Amino acid sequence: MSENKGYGLLKGKKGIIFGALDERSIAWRIALACKREGAEFVLTNAPVALRLGTLDGLSEVTGAPVIPCDVTDDKDVETLMEKTKEELGKVDFVLHAIGMSPNIRKKKPYTDLNYKWFQQSLDISAISLHRILHWAEKTDTLNDGASVVALSYIGAQRVFSKYSDMNDAKALLESIARNYGSRLAPRGIRVNTISQAPTKTSAGTGIKGFDGMYTFADKIAPLGNPTADECADYCVTLFSDLTRKVTMQNLYHDGGFATSGISEAMIEDLAKIYADEE
Ligand SMILES: NC(=O)c1ccc[n+]([C@@H]2O[C@H](COP(=O)([O-])OP(=O)(O)OC[C@H]3O[C@@H](n4cnc5c(N)ncnc54)[C@H](O)[C@@H]3O)[C@@H](O)[C@H]2O)c1
Repeated sequence: MSENKGYGLLKGKKGIIFGALDERSIAWRIALACKREGAEFVLTNAPVALRLGTLDGLSEVTGAPVIPCDVTDDKDVETLMEKTKEELGKVDFVLHAIGMSPNIRKKKPYTDLNYKWFQQSLDISAISLHRILHWAEKTDTLNDGASVVALSYIGAQRVFSKYSDMNDAKALLESIARNYGSRLAPRGIRVNTISQAPTKTSAGTGIKGFDGMYTFADKIAPLGNPTADECADYCVTLFSDLTRKVTMQNLYHDGGFATSGISEAMIEDLAKIYADEE
């Protein structure tokens, strides 16, 4: 955890954190930041990830119970909501930090997708946000004024070839955040996505060409790529009461990449490459 001792921004707040797999996971860093800010929460991940991962370590450090849940399974999501209420009562924030593409994993090119796997990419990475909000409402697990954040990527707006069908999944995720956000707004509940820059995690580095995407973004972004801990700090503000009227937004957390064209550093690098070729 960073030197930051916290500001008590989430004191008294309760939440559900999806997607912490190992120490590098953005959700792991967010869980530590939420703890630092005084929140209580449950941790959840797919049963298979719980077997492979190291979530018990995070559970010990944060005092958070772990509840298994495959987000593609309605029963699992409903049970998670019921168990969360038993552990904590109703919650004030939800983090969706879930993404997986079998096509990327199995190296299927975008023009030759396996459609069953494509549906799985969409189900796991995007429709799951809908399913989580649906069951949270049905089981009355969200407090009025709660804040929901899902992690996205700029592939939702622009083509990043190596990101393949995850570009489509993120576009759907952001659309669901807007549409569900409009339905929950009468209760003061906000739903946003944070569009995070490339970050060295298990899901991130699993993408072929990740190093190139990471370096490109870092060279273009005036502030450089933000780390997972910096993403966690930003996320805390969205869970806090300081952002009560921010909803249905896709918020770039990328050091300025999204609004940049080319940087001086990149121009110099390219000039060197072409000078060497001449
Ligand atoms: N790493 C990056 O470069 C980057 C950039 C922008 C956005 N994101 C997004 O951040 C989020 C978190 O990813 P990360 O980079 O921390 O990687 P990660 O691999 O640590 O997290 C992905 C998580 O999704 C979980 N998951 C997969 N299938 C699931 C299922 N069926 N049910 C429940 N959970 C399931 C995994 O177990 C894992 O914990 C993802 O949405 C990812 O797309 C990552």
